[in-house]
Amino acid sequence: MRKLLLSCLVVSAVALVAASALAQQKPSFTPGLGEFMLQTQTRHLKLWLAGNAGNWELADYEIDELKEGLEDAAKYVPSYKGTPVGPMIESTIMKPIEEVEAAIRARDRGKFTTAFDKLSAACNTCHTAANRAFIVVQRPTGVQFPNQAFAPRPQ
Ligand code: HEC
Repeated sequence: MRKLLLSCLVVSAVALVAASALAQQKPSFTPGLGEFMLQTQTRHLKLWLAGNAGNWELADYEIDELKEGLEDAAKYVPSYKGTPVGPMIESTIMKPIEEVEAAIRARDRGKFTTAFDKLSAACNTCHTAANRAFIVVQRPTGVQFPNQAFAPRPQ
């Protein structure tokens, strides 16, 4: 009986060591620029849906997330096929982002629409500069997240 218990213990100890070795071997995942862009695309879309519905709180949240996502992209993907990602983000899109933020603060739908279109144009400027001119973002044409409410909550 004691022998059995002992061998059980040995087997589980070996299994534990093997499992931790496997865990150490697991390659760490760093998203590529394409992954950061897919999340940027979602934020861009939700930003429009929120701002267009006059939901300034949500719009503010989305532009903030979009900005953070681009900052992370610059951090984790410093260079994309020879394009310096951080400086490109800084020079193409930071000013349009500030304009969107100002329109949100002003709670001005007209200003928001203009700033949003400028933002989309800036996205495309960077796509062209990075030799990806075939990636064209635009003002969304419908509500693609039917499981999320974009109108402000009734007070
Ligand atoms: C640094 C410049 C840069 C900026 C700024 C930028 N992009 Fe991109 N984007 C790229 C590059 C480069 C790719 C191609 C990535 C790849 O091939 O892995 C890309 C890819 C994409 C894609 C294609 C993803 C797919 O799988 O279809 C979308 C959508 C996209 N970007 C949206 C946006 C939006 C929206 C903005 C603005 C809010 C934006 N991007 C701003 C450089 C940029």
